[in-house]
Amino acid sequence: MAEDLHIVAGTKADQYESLLPQIKGLLHGENDLVANLANIAAALKEQFGWLWVGFYLVKPSFAHLSNEALAKLKASEDKDELVLGPFQGPVACTRIKKGRGVCGASWQEARTLVVPDVGKFPGHIACSSLSRSEIVIPVIRNNHVVAVLDVDSSEYNQFDSTDQHYLEQIVSLVPF
Ligand code: SME
Repeated sequence: MAEDLHIVAGTKADQYESLLPQIKGLLHGENDLVANLANIAAALKEQFGWLWVGFYLVKPSFAHLSNEALAKLKASEDKDELVLGPFQGPVACTRIKKGRGVCGASWQEARTLVVPDVGKFPGHIACSSLSRSEIVIPVIRNNHVVAVLDVDSSEYNQFDSTDQHYLEQIVSLVPF
């Protein structure tokens, strides 16, 4: 049974250092993807209080298509899209195409993107009008992006290389 999360004050690094072993504990012995992603999103939201924390999963975009369109899509390179997964925060866009917004760009480039001011990111997708800065971390397995972790803040300039360092570690822990 999960214990209450132990929330700490201190520097950002102190907060991540406290959170990391707790996240490892939450994941220990559990291999259900949705359960693990849900607990990671909740733990990050509880510790840091960000506006939105969650995952988008790379999935085939086969819904709502005719057989003909489906056949074309299956033959194309663009058959996948990001679909909303476990998250904490306001309701969000459900589907994002490759290259679109910060999430789609992070997926396409297979690297973490730190955006100090979302208003200055070309093509940023405003799921919430309150979002001001954002970091997106791709989850990479066997050289493929399988998901992204997206974090939004209602303040400008909230994310830096410390967040990148620890959030990349955290996503590396998830058994996909
Ligand atoms: N802002 C993101 C979209 C996802 S929401 O912020 C939850 C983007 O530009 O990709």
